[in-house]
Amino acid sequence: MANSLRLGIAGLGTIGVGVVKVLQKHGDKLAEKTGRPVEIHAVADLDRDLDRGVDLSSYQWFGDALAMAKDEGHDVFIELMGGSDGIALASVEAALESGKHVVTANKALLAKHGTRLAKLAEDNNVALNFEAAVAGGIPIIKTMRESLTGNDITKVYGILNGTCNYILTKMQEEGLAFEKVLAEAQAAGYAEADPTFDIGGHDTAHKLAILTSLAFGTELAFDEIYLEGIENIGIEDIEAADELGYRIKLLGVAQKTESGIEQRVHPTMVPKHTAIAEVAGVTNCVGVEGDFVDKIMLVGPGAGAGPTASAIVGDIVDIAWGIKLPPLLTRASELKPYQRAKMRAHEGGYYIRLHVKDHPGAIASIATRMAEQDISLQSIVQKGPDDRVTESGASEMTPVVLITHETTESAIRKALADISADGHVEGAAQMIRIESL
Ligand SMILES: NC(=O)c1ccc[n+]([C@@H]2O[C@H](COP(=O)([O-])OP(=O)(O)OC[C@H]3O[C@@H](n4cnc5c(N)ncnc54)[C@H](OP(=O)(O)O)[C@@H]3O)[C@@H](O)[C@H]2O)c1
Repeated sequence: MANSLRLGIAGLGTIGVGVVKVLQKHGDKLAEKTGRPVEIHAVADLDRDLDRGVDLSSYQWFGDALAMAKDEGHDVFIELMGGSDGIALASVEAALESGKHVVTANKALLAKHGTRLAKLAEDNNVALNFEAAVAGGIPIIKTMRESLTGNDITKVYGILNGTCNYILTKMQEEGLAFEKVLAEAQAAGYAEADPTFDIGGHDTAHKLAILTSLAFGTELAFDEIYLEGIENIGIEDIEAADELGYRIKLLGVAQKTESGIEQRVHPTMVPKHTAIAEVAGVTNCVGVEGDFVDKIMLVGPGAGAGPTASAIVGDIVDIAWGIKLPPLLTRASELKPYQRAKMRAHEGGYYIRLHVKDHPGAIASIATRMAEQDISLQSIVQKGPDDRVTESGASEMTPVVLITHETTESAIRKALADISADGHVEGAAQMIRIESL
């Protein structure tokens, strides 16, 4: 049997311990499959005395992950501490510079520094694998880096954050308000105490930045992503979507357009009968469209110790087999600068919800403003008067929901500005993009 592949695992939290468990359970099988023992040599974390529910006594202990990254005792540095900078960045850089392969699940690190880290890996002739960084247990990185290379990719999109999908699913299934479901999700451990990172769409954006680079051969451009979270989705939107034949999902979408590449994260209405509409709860999915494969979609668990560790061990096995690909598929020196498509040029259908004052001619005036921007309406639904009154305390208001045919974002924004200036509506319009997938 060939020399063993020696691993150093930095970060023994949920995922680090998950990886230890997989390797302890399946170590012998992995050796049979790869023809070489795959062994944990060292581990690093902050608190040596903490009982983590696994036996770590036979591994060398490091209280300093950076010292472990520089140590010569292992071949593969596995970064599972998290964070876009700090110790995660320093130790990954040190490991790559010292000629070690790196496996990480850290999307924040890759979204911010991925282009430079990919170059560092290539310059040092080592692997940088990150299957677990996007959609946990779903093998989308391998799919894009290996299986779909014969395609010109035109679009990649997905439900990439389980917390958001759980909240939207619960709102829809149980008719509950956003705040109530969020509190329940926090109690059940599906949402962090500070949920901003998830519900604001930032986590989805980190993953989308990685997918965009793989799909289009561009440098990672996380800061260029158009971002809207789910915090403004009301139960009235969920119900209206349902009545009109849609579900609301937080999607990350990257797509080639004539003016550049769109990267956007926002709540999206998808037709009820589509596969993506059926992806419920904490489950994730990723769809890819290519010129020869047409359309594919992968669905599965996007987080959790088992699925994420499963993806990480797959990355380790690739290294044991001697597979070493350019981390971002296109060689780092050949990655093109990202050219952003203007969001205002985005084309699609739109859902608009307005609170219309009970004035004669208000609805007709709204329809006129839409027509002036060449926006054709697929439907206009006027609900019963709501029990609120205008700011002046005067008249009743009526919620009105419009669904438009395909138009541009700039046309919609202009029409909404004109409608608002006419004084027939109160408050900001709710606007949700409709995606035909
Ligand atoms: N959880 C998931 O389902 C999931 C899914 C996909 C990807 N990921 C990614 O996987 C990574 C790990 O996530 P996780 O959920 O396992 O996080 P976690 O439970 O917080 O574990 C992180 C571990 O790293 C340790 N750590 C922090 N700073 C350290 C340092 N300077 N030196 C050594 N150890 C240090 C932490 O110790 P303390 O607890 O003492 O701070 C903790 O034990 C993150 O990048 C995350 O984004 C997670």
